[in-house]
Amino acid sequence: MNNRIMSGMRPTGKLHIGHYLGVIDNWVKLQNKYESYFFVADWHALTTKYNKTENLRQDSIDVVTDWLACGLDPDKSTIYVQSLVPETAELHIYLSMITPQHWVEKDPTLKDIVKIIKSGDGGSEEITYGLLGYPVLMSADILLFNASFVPVGIDQVAHVEITRDIARRFNSIYGADVFNEPQPLLNECSYICGVDGNKMGKSYNNDIKISDTEESTAKRIMQAITDRSRIRRDDLGHPDQCEVAFKYWQIFGSADDIEKTKHACETGTIGCADCKRCLAAKVNERFKEIREKRKYYEEHPEIVRDIIYSGSEKARKTAQETLKEVRKAVQIY
Ligand code: TRP
Ligand code: SF4
Repeated sequence: MNNRIMSGMRPTGKLHIGHYLGVIDNWVKLQNKYESYFFVADWHALTTKYNKTENLRQDSIDVVTDWLACGLDPDKSTIYVQSLVPETAELHIYLSMITPQHWVEKDPTLKDIVKIIKSGDGGSEEITYGLLGYPVLMSADILLFNASFVPVGIDQVAHVEITRDIARRFNSIYGADVFNEPQPLLNECSYICGVDGNKMGKSYNNDIKISDTEESTAKRIMQAITDRSRIRRDDLGHPDQCEVAFKYWQIFGSADDIEKTKHACETGTIGCADCKRCLAAKVNERFKEIREKRKYYEEHPEIVRDIIYSGSEKARKTAQETLKEVRKAVQIY
């Protein structure tokens, strides 16, 4: 077992604060403890959006820009883009040959994705061969670096499981000890819902972007759902029934802020509008430095580009070492 972790995200464009709290902040901490690889899974985007690629490159750049702003450090982590590490595709071929058909067909996320595609919301019309191979491609991402741990959310654990199965099968078929079995490292994260109380996402129009201005952040927070039974300003409020705003306070406020807000709400001494104005200031304070850093990278796209290309070169070196072992085990040229 090595000390390596790897994880990735699809290029969905500018990220929201749910990505920050749920994923990136965790990566930023992990990079101090592990040899870390973080990548943009742009080939994975093609599994559902093969016919909608015009923003793909910019979306990848936006994702990396957000990561850097949040504190991923190219001196500590290898930051790369999947399609700039073509070794991934070669490993995918070997793995696809040994993966039983029923392993990919039972992938639980596949059913959800198929539903989205059938509903016409997914961007494409066809369920392709490449989509079926999604878990194999993800296994290739992980095994290419022989990562010991894969920090992911609960929805991706099944994919790490299949990666373990594929690693074991490869080793056993070729009588080799090429791959170790990676383990999921469940994110220690705080979940944040969108301002309407549903899952935060750009397609729901309920998100706050890391890159948003203070004004638009405040505007969004003013839309946050509160205690629905509180109609007039001097009605007594119930923080535990305040569906969104108070939950945000619990994420962004200090213990003291939370206590004070609770008291003011329960005694009817603060109105929801004022409460949310204070909350917006808190949220903006939390993202101030990150947003300044983001601005810097936005103004210096050549730096982001350099980080992507040199990270991808570095990733290729490690990947080539793994592939050498793989070719030897498969007894291929
Ligand atoms: N499937 C992941 C997602 O949708 C992205 C991903 C692709 C990934 N390859 C990976 C994550 C390898 C971790 C490791 O979020
Ligand atoms: Fe929620 Fe604040 Fe309104 Fe109380 S005062 S219901 S905590 S928004």
